Amino acid sequence: MKTLLVTGGAGFIGSNFVRMALSEHAGRRVVVLDGLTYAGNLENLEGLQELYPERYRFVRADVTDAQALASLFAEEAVEEVVHFAAESHVDRSILGPMAFVKTNVMGTATLLEAARQAWGDGRGRYLQVSTDEVYGALGDAGAFTEETPLDPSSPYSASKAGADHLVLAYHRTYGMHTLITRCCNNYGPYQFPEKLIPFMIARMVSGDTLPVYGRGENVRDWIHVDDHNRGVFLALEKSGPGQVYNLGARCELRNIDLVRALIREVAAQTGRDPVELERRLAFVQDRPGHDWRYAIDPSKAVRELGFRPRVAFEEGLGSTVAWYLAHEGWWRRIVSGEYLEYVRKQYGA
Ligand code: NAD
Ligand code: DAU
Repeated sequence: MKTLLVTGGAGFIGSNFVRMALSEHAGRRVVVLDGLTYAGNLENLEGLQELYPERYRFVRADVTDAQALASLFAEEAVEEVVHFAAESHVDRSILGPMAFVKTNVMGTATLLEAARQAWGDGRGRYLQVSTDEVYGALGDAGAFTEETPLDPSSPYSASKAGADHLVLAYHRTYGMHTLITRCCNNYGPYQFPEKLIPFMIARMVSGDTLPVYGRGENVRDWIHVDDHNRGVFLALEKSGPGQVYNLGARCELRNIDLVRALIREVAAQTGRDPVELERRLAFVQDRPGHDWRYAIDPSKAVRELGFRPRVAFEEGLGSTVAWYLAHEGWWRRIVSGEYLEYVRKQYGA
């Protein structure tokens, strides 16, 4: 049985990945390493220890802690690493960039170095989970390919771009089997309610305003988290070393159109008045350096990995809204304390 180390497995994408790994990839033991920052939540992994006592282990540690990583590599015969752990929210990176540099750049460097020390002879595969934001902003036409030069705008995306360079440098310099996937905006269950979709759903249910940045005309490209994670697995299993794969589902939407689709969905599923929800839309001060448009060209992953997104957007959005309505306790336990302080700082009173 292969041992797969998943960092950031208590976060949104990581926890969905861990469940997929345990349920659909029986030949793997999954060791989750997570520092449990504000975004990490053990509730996201509830029940896994009982369901998979032999194949699942959770370790609380920071990815910048070289000693903890060395001990873990000494204890476990790790053959694969999928690195999700990161500070992931653009607005928080604008309010305070240093945590992003520490976790995203230093954390990646520390993890790569721990893997190199453990795998000296070239064993092992390291996959970096990256983002389309490293490419910067598009105008109204075109899409990011793997050849698009990196041109990040925010401290978040700059720190992810720095990490990507390190990952490729470890292949070129040391011959390690490292690779990168770069994905567009994810949605689905367990997403922290600071990100657009769960933020809006929680506020619709709670009776709050719905703050849309600028005129709401910026475009994002959306993919269901399970499709992203299927792409990560394909890359882990099939990619050669030193490769980069863009992952996306060709689903571009203006923010305002997405929020209106959410209004319709929440109204339909709860019986709330869509006109009353629409009245709560508030066009607020734009995000500084707000990238205009993202669009991922996933042709290379389609061609070389057989990547095929399966979840149609309307279906995925409907099931995501249903999940948040059915798991109100999950997000209500989050939207207090530190979260409210962040919301006050970001959106004002
Ligand atoms: P998230 O914020 O929901 O989760 C991040 C996880 O990392 C949390 O469990 C947190 O506790 C952990 N973590 C943070 N700092 C850590 C540290 N120093 N040591 C150990 N653990 C730490 O993030 P997400 O949205 O699930 O994103 C996961 C990864 O996917 C990130 O690398 C992100 O850049 C990338 N990504 C996200 C998206 C998206 O739309 N959310 C799209 C493309 C790529
Ligand atoms: O593109 C991939 C990236 O997608 C990931 O790398 C990031 O980790 C992830 O957070 C996400 O970044 P975005 O900045 O695109 O996501 P966010 O949900 O913060 O915002 C989506 C869009 O909605 C963006 O154009 C800003 C806008 N927005 C967001 C919030 C939270 C609003 O208009 N109002 C809001 O309150």
